[in-house]
Amino acid sequence: MSKLAVLNCSQLVTLAGPKRPRTGLEMRDLAIIDGGAMLIEDGKIARVGTTREIEPLAGSEVIDAGNRVVMPGFVDAHTHPVFAGNRANEYEQRSQGATYAEIAAAGGGIRSTVRQTRAATQDALQAAAAKYVSWFLESGTTTIEAKSGYGLTPNDEYKLLRVIRDVGPIRSVPTFLGAHEIPDEFRGNRAAYVDLVVEEMLPKVVGDKLAEFCDIFCEPGIFGIEDSRRILTAASALGLGLRMHADQLSRSGAAVLAAELHATTADHLEHTDAYGIAALKAAGVQPVLLPGSVYALGSKRYPDAREMIDAGLAVVLATDFNPGSSPTPSMPMILSIACTHMKMTPAEAITAATINPAHSLNRGSQIGSLEPGKYADFVIHGCADYREIPYFFGVQHPREVFIEGRNVFRKC
Ligand code: NIG
Ligand code: FE
Repeated sequence: MSKLAVLNCSQLVTLAGPKRPRTGLEMRDLAIIDGGAMLIEDGKIARVGTTREIEPLAGSEVIDAGNRVVMPGFVDAHTHPVFAGNRANEYEQRSQGATYAEIAAAGGGIRSTVRQTRAATQDALQAAAAKYVSWFLESGTTTIEAKSGYGLTPNDEYKLLRVIRDVGPIRSVPTFLGAHEIPDEFRGNRAAYVDLVVEEMLPKVVGDKLAEFCDIFCEPGIFGIEDSRRILTAASALGLGLRMHADQLSRSGAAVLAAELHATTADHLEHTDAYGIAALKAAGVQPVLLPGSVYALGSKRYPDAREMIDAGLAVVLATDFNPGSSPTPSMPMILSIACTHMKMTPAEAITAATINPAHSLNRGSQIGSLEPGKYADFVIHGCADYREIPYFFGVQHPREVFIEGRNVFRKC
């Protein structure tokens, strides 16, 4: 039996509390133990308390946190980490004034990544994904939700989902995003592509257990409300949970559809109004806010996190890591943008980056907080107060990262 004791934490940020996502003022309560310590047995948390009261078990390996913050690993509930190449060229064009929409309309954007990804072997994609996983780990993220969506043929989508299945040592939760864009060969025949997703891809993805969730880019000109309803209804009937790219570039009614379909999450929501927020609340849908894409696209229109928190929604923050709209794997960067531009408090942001996303991935009883019985997925940050994490932005805070009590990153 492996035993580990983590002692002398300035703050052990446990997030212990109700067995459901946090809402309203609960999001400010991080259940911090000052001068905290934690015992781990066989990869799971056995006990938390103060360093004074916790005695390491005989035969334990002891880690001295050195009066630093220890908190759960970040749970990043929206990422697109499997793709070939990158779009630094489009970034340069955007720096000179071209817009994301103009580049996409000219055949770039998602479709340019699709062309490169189709041409790549599974091994090459696995190697690229491994590089991005190392970036997540060194940013303090121990779980990612990971989407397909750059294949857009049956075999290419399965190839991406197999890469996600085999990625490690990070914990990953696979989402099928076959409806990410209309591929080149179906331009002008969107309905035929929707048929392919519903009739061929979804049954195979479910039959081979390649995904837990289904997502869609619901946006006028991509997949509208009717296409989205059809695809997501079919996915739900096959047993997949639902997530949606909703109201990102316009208010299309996607958030209201997420509520109608009882989706697990509605993501982005930059254009969602009070009516949409009320619908999400009534249906118990968790909003996943992605300020990295707002920042990277140079927009000023952040989602209204304050209104959502005040309405009682269990808000989640995620990176949206992808080669186009949000090329960052860094949850600390996302926390900083959320606190500065969306006026979330540092405590709310940390709740939205740990326990709330764990619930949005159906893993609220396993990860997202430091409580006995949960996996010992945790990070030692190089600061004494958790508020320093969003405050000192652009700094690499994690010094050591652990998944199930096993070290997966150590800062040199
Ligand atoms: O979440 N909106 C659709 N998907 C991504 C962008 C993907 C890309 O540009 O490659 C997003 O922003
Ligand atoms: Fe996305």
